[in-house]
Amino acid sequence: MTTYGTITRQVIDELTAIVGPRNLIRDEEKMQPYAHDETPEEQYSHMPGVVVTPTDAQQVAAIVKLAVKYLIPVTPRGAGSGLSGGAIPVYGGILLSLEKMNRVVEIDYANMMIVVEPGLVTNEINALVADQGLFFAGYPMSLESCFVGGNIAENAGGGKAVKYGVTGQYIMGLELVTPEGEIVTLGGKNVKDVTGYDLKRLIIGSEGTLGIVTQATIKLSPLPKYKSDLLVLFEDVAGAIDAVPVIFSKGGITPTSIEFMDKLSVHTACAYLNEHLPYQQAGAMLLIEVDGSDQEQVDLDAERIGELLMTHGAIEVYVADNHTTQERVWSVRRNIAEAFKVYSPHQSLEDIVVPIAAIPALMPLVDAISKKYNIAMPTYGHAGDGNLHTTLVKNPESTMDEWYAVEEQAVNELYDAVRSLGGKISGEHGIGLKRKPFMQRLTDPVELKLMRAVKRAFDPHNIMNPGKLFDVEEQA
Ligand code: LAC
Ligand code: ZN
Repeated sequence: MTTYGTITRQVIDELTAIVGPRNLIRDEEKMQPYAHDETPEEQYSHMPGVVVTPTDAQQVAAIVKLAVKYLIPVTPRGAGSGLSGGAIPVYGGILLSLEKMNRVVEIDYANMMIVVEPGLVTNEINALVADQGLFFAGYPMSLESCFVGGNIAENAGGGKAVKYGVTGQYIMGLELVTPEGEIVTLGGKNVKDVTGYDLKRLIIGSEGTLGIVTQATIKLSPLPKYKSDLLVLFEDVAGAIDAVPVIFSKGGITPTSIEFMDKLSVHTACAYLNEHLPYQQAGAMLLIEVDGSDQEQVDLDAERIGELLMTHGAIEVYVADNHTTQERVWSVRRNIAEAFKVYSPHQSLEDIVVPIAAIPALMPLVDAISKKYNIAMPTYGHAGDGNLHTTLVKNPESTMDEWYAVEEQAVNELYDAVRSLGGKISGEHGIGLKRKPFMQRLTDPVELKLMRAVKRAFDPHNIMNPGKLFDVEEQA
């Protein structure tokens, strides 16, 4: 285990010289918001030794060099909307928040790209380029609050991944401050590039353990002019889930989204939003979106999917074809995670993923775990990607100690079930701190050995977001 240096007066003075007194926080109360992300605070939070808010890449590089000199851990942080504890400073040290690096550097319409700093709120890209008929297609569900840098660190997914894929597919270039404090540009505006190892792809999804992104070149796509949403009701969860692979295999259509919500998820989000969606009594729902540049084609696709699902177990299909109703149903879906956090704060929000054809086989396994441990396990998520947010909720009658024991065992069994179907434990939220104990057990030792070697090559001093993903030294 690395023994880290502490935040001495000397360190504070040198940090202040780099960022200026206005970009350094030491006050306990003001540092508190930086101690956690969206994972349960009582389980995962940890106070930083100092918070710095640099304003450019040179400052970031100087902070990292100082961290190397004194062997102090550096934890990069975006909006703090992460769900795996990736931005939590487990070893204290320097919390490096990118909140002040939120500039749009360039909008390059000729190349259909935008160059931004990591602290920009993701949705601002879409707001800026919409009037030119463009959008950033890789955005996640939390687009109104998350930062571009966090999306890159986690290779965030989202509701449109069925058709458009995830963040990484749109990241053309990165400026990175390495864990040794050097500034390097990886990739760029070239559409094709096989010049050596694809280090840019390695950074995407590396959870801030291989460096700090200080600028990103992002590909923009033509904004589809038309869309139609279908809210498809089913008797029960099994019926809805069984229907998902059918849309691909028999429908021959790739929808933009296929989102799944069980009854408890819909109820919880509706209560949270004070929304009164009709049809709340259905056992489960699919929210399916199709989009395109031809209104007639979009309508035809929506109709075909609706008809197909009516012959595959659906009890009703509602069409949301205007902005207001579309926004209402999507708002319910987008707010489920937040709603569970408010109503059931003692919970474990998972983001398991299985191959799409295995989705029907997954649900009975989830059901069995829920019964065995006598806990509610509501499920919603990106059914079209096989990526489901099964959420383990503490039974109100159990003590906190009982809950933590049950949580660990039930999560372990859930991961085993996922693995037995060829799936993975995280499809979009990452390993971070929360899933680190499971990563060791569930990953091929050779794969883990290679990952450790990569980490050492980038970060020989083990100062960049340590304590995340896996332990650098092999555990006995
Ligand atoms: C969602 C977040 C939790 O899909 O990933 O709502
Ligand atoms: Zn999600």
